[in-house]
Amino acid sequence: MRTAKTSVPIRRPAAVFVLLLAALVFAAIVVAIQSSSFFIGSRKSLIDSEEIRILSDFQSRVQQCVASRGLGLTADIIDHCKLVLKFPEGTNSTWYNAQFKIFEPLEYKYDVCEAILLWEQYRNMTTVLTREYLDVRPDGWLDYAAKRIAQLGADKCYNRSICEEHLNLILPAKPPFHPQQFRTCAVVGNSGDLLKTEFGLEIDGHDAVFRDNEAPVNEKYAKHVGLKRDFRLVVRGAARNMVAILDGSSDEVLIIKSVTHRDFNAKIKELPNPVYLFQGIVLRRGAKGTGMKSIELALSMCDIVDIYGFTVDPGYTEWTRYFSTPRKGHNPLQGRAYYQLLECLGVIRIHSPMRARRKQDWSDVPGKEIITSAHMAALRLKREKTGQEGDLGPFGNCKVWGTVDRDGPVSGSPDMADARSKSNYSKWELLPHESLRKEAQKHYAQMGRVSLYKMDGNKLDDLVCVRHSF
Ligand SMILES: *[C@@H]1O[C@H](CO)[C@@H](O)[C@H](O)[C@H]1NC(C)=O
Ligand SMILES: *[C@@H]1O[C@H](CO)[C@@H](O)[C@H](O)[C@H]1NC(C)=O
Ligand SMILES: *[C@@H]1O[C@H](CO)[C@@H](O)[C@H](O)[C@H]1NC(C)=O
Ligand SMILES: *[C@@H]1O[C@H](CO)[C@@H](O)[C@H](O)[C@H]1NC(C)=O
Repeated sequence: MRTAKTSVPIRRPAAVFVLLLAALVFAAIVVAIQSSSFFIGSRKSLIDSEEIRILSDFQSRVQQCVASRGLGLTADIIDHCKLVLKFPEGTNSTWYNAQFKIFEPLEYKYDVCEAILLWEQYRNMTTVLTREYLDVRPDGWLDYAAKRIAQLGADKCYNRSICEEHLNLILPAKPPFHPQQFRTCAVVGNSGDLLKTEFGLEIDGHDAVFRDNEAPVNEKYAKHVGLKRDFRLVVRGAARNMVAILDGSSDEVLIIKSVTHRDFNAKIKELPNPVYLFQGIVLRRGAKGTGMKSIELALSMCDIVDIYGFTVDPGYTEWTRYFSTPRKGHNPLQGRAYYQLLECLGVIRIHSPMRARRKQDWSDVPGKEIITSAHMAALRLKREKTGQEGDLGPFGNCKVWGTVDRDGPVSGSPDMADARSKSNYSKWELLPHESLRKEAQKHYAQMGRVSLYKMDGNKLDDLVCVRHSF
């Protein structure tokens, strides 16, 4: 080409020079990349091996804990994160799945690193749906609110005021409860094995007691399940027999597990009791939903969570509730294994007939410091693996941030507190911060007045974080 011909003589020396320069620069870059990746690589493997050492030590603590507390369960360690919990050969798997024609398996594989990341988070979490959460969450009022309302007649809140109408009565502006508000809590399941023991006084000795659905609390069962009533998780169907469930209690807090609807709201209007919606994520693994939600709820307010009446003894064959006849559908071994894992991760303490006469000694459960360092190690490993940079603190998973000040911008119509201003309810959630237990106050200050919520529906780790500017 003409232009090329004429330009060549002039450009050649320059081109050679440019090429040479480019080659030099390229070589320098290659050397730089190699040496830096060499440094990063060796630093990375140094960090990794330290984390792996911490987690391996932790795994063997968990293994010892299972061996001494697991009523025959054993833990086989696969690596620094994974282990398998095994029931002894010959354990009678009484739960038969007719659909798949199998008995419950005797082995369950868990990722301890994931479990500890998930459950330690709950200690800092708000597990009640609030208006600030809906306001801050990007799809809060359009998509998410709609998911929490049955019979909306639409898949989204196209008309927000209709959604607000449904939720107003059960939607506080800000978190009504606080992390570490209570020292000890009892979570009482409904298992028939409660009748084999007399845990009543022990249960009532807790700072707060959490119960489930229509569990009766009265003199008839008092010595088995106690009389104290503070929180009750209910399914939406409970709306129908609310009066029977509450049985005269005017200050038991009701927490609806899933969705609300018009009939429920009509009932709620007649009650002095506070009613809220549970806010959390749907766990797809581990034990089945109901018991887990009560544990999540309790963990978001309590330092120590004692569980009673969860059928956890292997070989237990009477699938009864303490107040009714047998029903089907339990998978006791799966639940038993997961609860045992949670106990050895310091999340819960299991009380059951087979342990009723044991001395209450939790020294074989890893202590708080060990759990904290295992949590940090698991977090650093995970961040490295996923290539995430930055904040390893409690805000590291905050996907969405929002701020509220004293008078708003919590949106919409007045807080439910106004709707119920005529109620005589005077338990905890109206407590000013100054009246909270000092550990809860300290925590709030340490967290920079930030409330953390599970994103719900998103990735397990994603959080919505709301800073209170007062
Ligand atoms: C296992 O439990 C079932 C149901 O209770 C019982 O019929 C069976 O005899 C038990 N088997 C053994 C080996 O204990
Ligand atoms: C939303 O619903 C309310 C109550 O039914 C109604 O009064 C209002 O006009 C609706 N708004 C829109 C924008 O459709
Ligand atoms: C929970 O909050 C405490 C402050 O009370 C903080 O030190 C800790 O790192 C937080 N844990 C998690 C898992 O976010
Ligand atoms: C609240 O308490 C007052 C005085 O004890 C009583 O007269 C009133 O009926 C109570 N209201 C409700 C909703 O229980």
